[in-house]
Amino acid sequence: MYGLVDEIQDLMDPQKIERVILTHSHFDHVGGLAEIFQVASPDLYMHKVTRGYLDLHRPPFPEFFGALQKEDKIKYFKDGDVLEGDYEIRVLYTPGHTAGDICLYLPSAKALASGDFVLGADHQYGLVLSKPDEVCGGRMKDRIESLKRLLSLEVKTLLPGHGSPVIENGYDQIKIQLLETFRIEDGRDSEKPWLRMAKVLSDLGDTAGAIECCKMALKTNRDCPEAKDMIARLDSENV
Ligand SMILES: [Fe+2]
Ligand SMILES: [Fe+2]
Repeated sequence: MYGLVDEIQDLMDPQKIERVILTHSHFDHVGGLAEIFQVASPDLYMHKVTRGYLDLHRPPFPEFFGALQKEDKIKYFKDGDVLEGDYEIRVLYTPGHTAGDICLYLPSAKALASGDFVLGADHQYGLVLSKPDEVCGGRMKDRIESLKRLLSLEVKTLLPGHGSPVIENGYDQIKIQLLETFRIEDGRDSEKPWLRMAKVLSDLGDTAGAIECCKMALKTNRDCPEAKDMIARLDSENV
């Protein structure tokens, strides 16, 4: 949490920071604020739900706001808000990791800044770090719905809060996270996660992806009637 301003200095003059956006309330995404406010006085954006969870953290985190008296700098945004600036940036409310997660979507670049909501494939602890934190209101049910929603976007580049950016295959990375979530719920040896994934992709119009998942379900269970039925249905729709 220290050294953030040094990092920013490589990119821009930290005194010129006008806005800081919090993706969620976890300390590793908030703790650098004190350092930033020592050199600049930016507006601080977050989802309203996140504000409450900031107070859950043990000292010194809540004190960052009190001691720095920055409450007047806090601005709340909601799902669908568009941030003004050189580029259009859309705010997506994607609860699931915590109750207040947001992702930022840049349509012109098909880029998604995902905080901890979706992490890169190369991150050793990716799934652990992105799983629901129930203390901060994270729920698996919400996570699944939010992941489904992200799959309806065109995401080329994924900019996660931990791990390397995924430059070309952001959509696939979101698919992997949803599948892994299903596998945690239903078991790795079951055909069920593949069937659930096939249904999601079929609903989204990703027929090729859905058929691929049905084939994986059949690899797990050769006689799986649901997978056979779905392949037959998707094939007939494709003709
Ligand atoms: Fe987090
Ligand atoms: Fe994190």
